[in-house]
Amino acid sequence: MDIKAVILAAGKGTRMKSETTPKVLHEIMGKSLLGYVLDNVKNFVSEEFVIVGHHAQEVENYVKANYSNARTVLQTPQLGTGHAVSMVCPYLEDYEGTVLILCGDTPLIKEDTLRAFIDFHTSKNSDLTVMSTIFDNPTNYGRIIRENDNSLKCIVEEKDANAEQKAIKEVNAGIYCLNWSKIKSAFSQLKTNNAQGEYYLTDIISWGKEQNLNVNAYILEDSDEIYGINSRLNLAQATKIMNKRNLEKYMINGVTIVDPDSTWISEDTEIGQDTIIYPATYIEGKNKIGKNCKIGPCAHLRGGVEVCDNVKVGNFVEVKKSKISSNTNVGHLSYIGDSELGEHVNIGAGTITANYNPLTKIKSKTVLKDNVKIGSNSVLVAPVTVEEGANVGAGGIITKDVSAWSLAITRSPLKIVADWVKMQISK
Ligand code: UD1
Ligand code: CA
Repeated sequence: MDIKAVILAAGKGTRMKSETTPKVLHEIMGKSLLGYVLDNVKNFVSEEFVIVGHHAQEVENYVKANYSNARTVLQTPQLGTGHAVSMVCPYLEDYEGTVLILCGDTPLIKEDTLRAFIDFHTSKNSDLTVMSTIFDNPTNYGRIIRENDNSLKCIVEEKDANAEQKAIKEVNAGIYCLNWSKIKSAFSQLKTNNAQGEYYLTDIISWGKEQNLNVNAYILEDSDEIYGINSRLNLAQATKIMNKRNLEKYMINGVTIVDPDSTWISEDTEIGQDTIIYPATYIEGKNKIGKNCKIGPCAHLRGGVEVCDNVKVGNFVEVKKSKISSNTNVGHLSYIGDSELGEHVNIGAGTITANYNPLTKIKSKTVLKDNVKIGSNSVLVAPVTVEEGANVGAGGIITKDVSAWSLAITRSPLKIVADWVKMQISK
């Protein structure tokens, strides 16, 4: 059965209180909220529609740059979640498959959960399935209202709920599976007779019941997965949940995390066995770390980093978009950006790859071949290549390529003035 995803990302995100960034582009460890949702569906859907509206251009640019298979559909003005989904109707007039609807602000959902949700929908021969979960504190979520026989009745939003309904702990996760040809006509029949004057997507449940369609709920056990991001507080909490989940995965796979409370590692980082991650290390974006490495304490990997086996990235070292080959040490207080480091390279404390020209805004590459040794406090002014086995003396400012096995030294000769101090005192 063909599956297409519709991801709602047009809302203003008022509660984020952000002027510059649309809600779905706020990030958790280097990846946007929307990115998480797109990554979780891209392996099993044939097409993704992202509904954009508020800051549409930015969201569209992001989707185009990172997810070439996804298409954006403009919703303007934004009249509610039901109105948002109706924007895809012209594209799916004759579509006979399944439509999976998700919100761009729910990044913790797992791919496996979505697959199980769709399997449930299929096995029940369901026309419409909504994902629900039980929250101890259900405030702000839509409540699932059931009939006396426990079958679904409708969803009531917080703002429309009476006291009795507010006490219900089963909430709408905002994720739906639709037998499209059976449900699509609902979108021309939604009404705005609710507290927010919006077209609510949630009303398709009662609509489906009225049409005598097969409507079901899939109750998710791990309610963390549908935690929605509406505020900066939610964003911090979601980052914590995500991080805990990631660290547990690494530890189970044989990575030592010395202090899980102060270590942050993104979902898209791979780490080999017997690597040790020391406290206060922050690893964001997509990275690959080999076996038997030592990372940190206080290291910062900013994405696009490949670290091979037996590498040391020590304290206060920042690495971005670089490859560090096996048996190489970057021990202390260094910045390695847009660089390629060979094997058995040693980087002295305080070495900087000067990769960025702020006038031209151009970033350039530093290449250090196998067995290169860089003395402490050196600056490698990119673009620059240091060929195999060459040494750079401490304090070197390297603006030209260095040939293999040679010494590059930029120091002025050391002068020692004998008895200088004594002469000052006797004056
Ligand atoms: C929604 C659900 C609620 C559910 C909760 C789960 C409705 C009416 N309510 O509430 O039952 O418990 O999600 O997280 O559906 N959006 C658009 N266009 C619009 C309005 C919203 O694209 O016109 C997008 C937003 O960008 C967001 C998503 O839809 O990604 C959900 O909107 P939001 O305002 O956050 O809805 P909630 O109040 O959280
Ligand atoms: Ca929300």
